[in-house]
Amino acid sequence: MADSRSEPLVLGIETSCDETGVGIVRGHTLLADAVASSVDEHARFGGVVPEVASRAHLEAMVPTIQRALKEAGVAASDLDGIAVTAGPGLAGALLVGVSAAKAYAYALGKPLYGVNHLASHICVDQLEHGPLPEPTMALLVSGGHSSLLLAPDITSDVRPLGSTIDDAAGEAFDKIARVLNLGFPGGPVIDRIARDGDPGAIAFPRGLTGPRDAAYDFSFSGLKTAVARWIEAKRTAGEEVPVADVSASFQEAVVDVLTRKAVRACKDEGVDHLMIGGGVAANSRLRALAERRCEDAGITLRVPRPKLCTDNGAMVAALGAEMVARGRSASAWDLSADSSLPVTDPHVPDPEAATHTHPQTHTHSHDHDHVHELSRKNLYA
Ligand code: KG4
Ligand code: ZN
Repeated sequence: MADSRSEPLVLGIETSCDETGVGIVRGHTLLADAVASSVDEHARFGGVVPEVASRAHLEAMVPTIQRALKEAGVAASDLDGIAVTAGPGLAGALLVGVSAAKAYAYALGKPLYGVNHLASHICVDQLEHGPLPEPTMALLVSGGHSSLLLAPDITSDVRPLGSTIDDAAGEAFDKIARVLNLGFPGGPVIDRIARDGDPGAIAFPRGLTGPRDAAYDFSFSGLKTAVARWIEAKRTAGEEVPVADVSASFQEAVVDVLTRKAVRACKDEGVDHLMIGGGVAANSRLRALAERRCEDAGITLRVPRPKLCTDNGAMVAALGAEMVARGRSASAWDLSADSSLPVTDPHVPDPEAATHTHPQTHTHSHDHDHVHELSRKNLYA
C-alpha cells in the first residue's frame, strides 16, 4: 500500500450555491469537512437568492477555511494544492470561492485547481468507498441538477448521457413542499412525511418514459403540475389533502424514473457500478429502490453518506487531489468562475501549461482535443 503521506494534501472550496464548504483531504482520506450554510436566510423566499448567498459566502469564507485547517490538524503551508469549484453554479457565489482560492494559492505559493462541481459530486465517493471504478456511471440529483453521466476517467473524461429538460429532481421536491406548505428545502421533509403514506395511493405521471422518449433524459415539470392540480382539486372541493399519501406518491414517481433510467444506462453501457450523488441522494426511498433494482440487475451501488452527497468542500478537495495524483495541469491565475462550465470539463487547465504533459501522466487523446478546444476559445474570445 502507498505511504499515505505521499498522497496529495488538498484543500477544496465550494461556493456554487448556498453552502460555503471547505474540505481537506489526503488522497482518498477525508481530514476535514467544514460547511457554513446560508439555507436559513433563504427559507422565507422558498428558494436560494443569489445575492444573499454571495454575501453569506464572503462572511463565512475565512472562518470556514480556518475551521477546516484546525479540524484537519494541518498547516496551510503543508498543502499540495488548492482546489475550487469553477462552475457550474451561481456566478456571484462562484466568484467568491474562486477569488478566495486564488488569494490563498498565490499567497501560499501552491497550485490552483479550478474544478467542475458535477465531477466533484462523483469524485467525493472515493472518500467513502475508495477508488472509483473506471468507468463509473453516475446519477447526480440535486436542487440544481439531474444528470446521468458516464465517467471513464473523472479527471479528464466525463460524458453526459442525459439530464433534465426542465426542473431538477430536488427542485421538484422543493416546489411540491411549497404547495403543501411544508417549508424549504422540501426534500428532507417530504422524505420524512412520505414514510407514513402510501406510495401507490395516487398514480402520478412518470415523465419521459414512453417508448419514443429520450432514454436518459428526465422531466419533472409535468409531474409537478399534476401534483399541484391534484392538491388544488381537493382544496376546491373542500376536502382534506392527504399530505402523507401525496408526498409518498409524488416521491415514488420521482425515484421510480430516476432508478429505472440509471439502471438502464448501466445495462446499455455495460457498466456494473452505479454511483448516486447530489442532495437528493439523501432520499431514503431513492436509496432503497436503487439498492433493490441494482441488486436485481447485478450492479454494485455506491452512495456516499448524506453529508458528502449535499454540496460540500470535501468533494472539491477529493477531485483536486485526484488531479494532483494524476499530474493534471493546474489552472492559470486568470481562472474565472464559469456559471455554465460544461460537464465535459472536469477541470479548467492552464491553456499554456496543459500542452506539457506531467511525467506521471498517462495521456489520453481526449486531453489534446480538449486543450486545442480551449486554445481556440481563447484565440477567438
Ligand atoms: O446538492 P444540494 O445540497 O444542493 C444543490 O442543489 O446543488 O441539494 C439540495 C437539494 C434540495 O432541492 C433538497 O430539497 C434536496 O436536495 N434534498 C432531498 C433530500 N435531502 C435534500 N430531496 C429528497 N429527499 C431528501 N431526503
Ligand atoms: Zn451540487
